[in-house]
Amino acid sequence: MERTGLNGAFKKLFAALSYNSAFIYNEKMHEFKRELFRNMPRFAGADGTLRLLEIGCGSGANFQYYPNGCTVICSDPNAHFDKYLRKNMEENKHLCYEGFLVASGESLEHVKDASLDVVVCTLVLCSVRNVGEVLQEVRRVLKTGGAFYFLEHVASERSSLWLYILQHVFEPLWYCLGEGCTLTRTTWRDLEAAGFTQLYIEHITALKVSTVIKPHIMGYCIK
Ligand SMILES: C[S@@+](CC[C@H](N)C(=O)[O-])C[C@H]1O[C@@H](n2cnc3c(N)ncnc32)[C@H](O)[C@@H]1O
Repeated sequence: MERTGLNGAFKKLFAALSYNSAFIYNEKMHEFKRELFRNMPRFAGADGTLRLLEIGCGSGANFQYYPNGCTVICSDPNAHFDKYLRKNMEENKHLCYEGFLVASGESLEHVKDASLDVVVCTLVLCSVRNVGEVLQEVRRVLKTGGAFYFLEHVASERSSLWLYILQHVFEPLWYCLGEGCTLTRTTWRDLEAAGFTQLYIEHITALKVSTVIKPHIMGYCIK
């Protein structure tokens, strides 16, 4: 992870900007997030404990939605999120934090096979280098019967032609400013192809966010 140089400075700035924008996004998407994570306690183990890994956790904007007593492992390739994560951990004392792994979702080798009840990604699969590889890592680290929760902005359907064109026009600029974030991914296809035993997915329109990221998918898959 580059902490110095121009790229390091950009990552530091990105972490600071993301910290603020994540909470604005939360306000706009609060009801969707609450609904998404509502049934998470059902994936707790027989002893009632729930061990969760968040991939691309950023500043920890999802902590408030996790159930009481849940053990959380955070991971993100950008180490500059560390200080924002610690601040959010302070504010969410209902959780138990196991640590912060500086790692990309494609290579989670520090996480053991079948060791987690739940894995979460929100607004991450739009930015990763290889969605298929991340989903294979998710399947590897989940216990059988464990769940992968996702909330992602995606490509518009071609039937909304003007939005489809707008996303393609804005894509290069968005990619540069958003640290590799893409607007035109058909992420639902990767989820369908990933080999989970069950997939619960909803295509939603996030009315309160910027036009180019209004089309979203949310749901969960079971291993
Ligand atoms: C838009 S932010 C979302 C942060 C957080 N999940 C949220 O919902 O507020 C995208 C995050 O994905 C992370 N990211 C980028 N590439 C990644 C990769 N290959 N694996 C895991 N995370 C990645 C970024 O560092 C950033 O924290």
